[in-house]
Amino acid sequence: LITDIRLRRILDSRGNPTVEADVVTESGGFGRAAAPSGASTGEYEAVERPPTEAIAAAREHAVPRLVGEAYAGNQREVDSILRAADGTDDFSEIGANSAVAISMAAAKAGADVLGAPLFQHLGGTFRGENFPTPLGNVVGGGEHAADATDIQEFLAAPVGAPSVEDAVFANAAVHAEVADLLEERGHPSGKGDEGAWAPSIDDSEAFEIVDEAVSTVQDDVGFNIGFGLDVAAAEMYDADSETYEYESAGVSRDTEEQIEYIAELVDEYDLVYVEDPLDEDDYDAFAELTDEVGDQTLICGDDLFVTNTDRLVDGIDRGAANSILIKPNQIGTLSDAFDAIELATQNGYDSVISHRSGETEDTTIAHLAVATDAPFIKTGAVGGERTAKLNELIRIADDAT
Ligand code: PGA
Ligand code: ZN
Repeated sequence: LITDIRLRRILDSRGNPTVEADVVTESGGFGRAAAPSGASTGEYEAVERPPTEAIAAAREHAVPRLVGEAYAGNQREVDSILRAADGTDDFSEIGANSAVAISMAAAKAGADVLGAPLFQHLGGTFRGENFPTPLGNVVGGGEHAADATDIQEFLAAPVGAPSVEDAVFANAAVHAEVADLLEERGHPSGKGDEGAWAPSIDDSEAFEIVDEAVSTVQDDVGFNIGFGLDVAAAEMYDADSETYEYESAGVSRDTEEQIEYIAELVDEYDLVYVEDPLDEDDYDAFAELTDEVGDQTLICGDDLFVTNTDRLVDGIDRGAANSILIKPNQIGTLSDAFDAIELATQNGYDSVISHRSGETEDTTIAHLAVATDAPFIKTGAVGGERTAKLNELIRIADDAT
């Protein structure tokens, strides 16, 4: 039984405040978790409130309904109380940041009571035995860095790695190789919010560099490393002109041109993963692209689906995308995230578990990815708040084998 919930403001990786929750149980269980925060947020995400307000509202509405009332190990009960206490569809009362911190902290307290690792508690006895392939962000721009690439993330995807440890180190090696190539080409660069290099180059040069870095590291390690993207196209879409604006390249594409451009990139670079290639409102364009290249690559909806089962149902009906990005803070609770994964699986959509650009040391998503047998996890390549998750994956694999 939950006997105490403490909420506080802590720092995230951008230096902004975020919500951390501690959940304590009668039998001595303890769980702590913190909410991440996006920069290129989807329009249909649950609402993140300023942490001070979110904490005050959660203390008033949610904490009294949980303490002395709910069991930390009963995730569905905890999460439905959070929803009822909030009373809105989008957590605009207590904030999705308070909600997700409490939801994840309760899961950790529940695991602690059982003496089980979090992935085991969440995934159960019959969870799959697979480990997710980490997608490593090595070059990026968009909303994550000023004066850098238009495409938000260029990702290394070590799909052939024999172990999660090999995959994690391969991504770090690609990240380092990219730095060397940028230096050689006269574009030494700092890093963006997720630790990816953020040079002021256009996308076509970034494609050349990442392609070369991936091949070099692939030859070194002797297993297949693929190439992926998060276009975050909603951020470049201009609804008035109905065009995608590539500012660093000075190019503008209408929807049909955007679909053709992405399909060409899939062919040219053998892309294994393409996230948000089109605007978050354009299910039809997503469907058209998926029809064209969906059997060659994962077309993933992040801003399109925002971890929301209602939006995923629409996508499934129309054949938009073939995978969904899962960010628990986009929807507010772990139960909702599990529902989205379950619905995706039933309909042949893959689930990709993801960090946010603003992160903390919290490792819940590493456990979530293992618990749900997700094929991919996107949690950066370097940087303490990213390596917190990557190193946790290595530890989980080490414990489990
Ligand atoms: P965000 O970016 O956390 O800033 O939304 C990550 C993503 O778009 O996948
Ligand atoms: Zn995204």
